[in-house]
Amino acid sequence: MSTAHGTAPATDENAQIRQIILDARDATVSRATVSDDSPLVVYFSSISGNTHKFVQKLRARLVRLPLHTKEESPTVTEPFVLIVPTYGKPDGAGNVPPQVVKFLNNPENRAQLRGVIGAGNTNFGPLFGIAADIVSRKCDVPVLFKFELMGTPADVEKVNEGLEEFWTQNSLQR
Ligand SMILES: Cc1cc2nc3c(=O)[nH]c(=O)nc-3n(C[C@H](O)[C@H](O)[C@H](O)COP(=O)(O)O)c2cc1C
Repeated sequence: MSTAHGTAPATDENAQIRQIILDARDATVSRATVSDDSPLVVYFSSISGNTHKFVQKLRARLVRLPLHTKEESPTVTEPFVLIVPTYGKPDGAGNVPPQVVKFLNNPENRAQLRGVIGAGNTNFGPLFGIAADIVSRKCDVPVLFKFELMGTPADVEKVNEGLEEFWTQNSLQR
């Protein structure tokens, strides 16, 4: 679209272009095989989509939390594992994304949470994946694993095997 100042696209066109890029990215990631009794994973992933890419490779049923806190958060009625990236602020506050805080503020969701997996970046040193430690402490569930960015193939395999074992050990099959 042309504007008075040239050919810069309007903001809504930018949003459309962003969506096309995201869809194209997704199309390059093939989804792992999933059955009705596969483990249930709830995850948050921002526009950068690292966690989203990681979970596509899991043999798990997936629920993605909304990108914006103003959107309605789901209520989950069966056991699940949460995957949460860390988004720290310079003052050390807000490591757990507000979208995840909103979801976990619902006691029905907290009652079904069985474990947490952290995503992050090791450049953050001791704050690597700290959102998972915070959720673990506040909700009294174990940190099952941490991975960096979109994870390596070895991370994917460890999480797939770990989830299967965790589901069997805790008799979480439906
Ligand atoms: C502003 C900002 C702050 C971040 N803070 C941390 C942090 O404190 N600890 C950490 O391990 N990773 C941190 N990260 C890295 C993200 O957790 C990492 O990029 C993750 O893969 C993002 O997941 P997503 O793309 O699915 O949203 C931060 C990233 C950004 C952009």
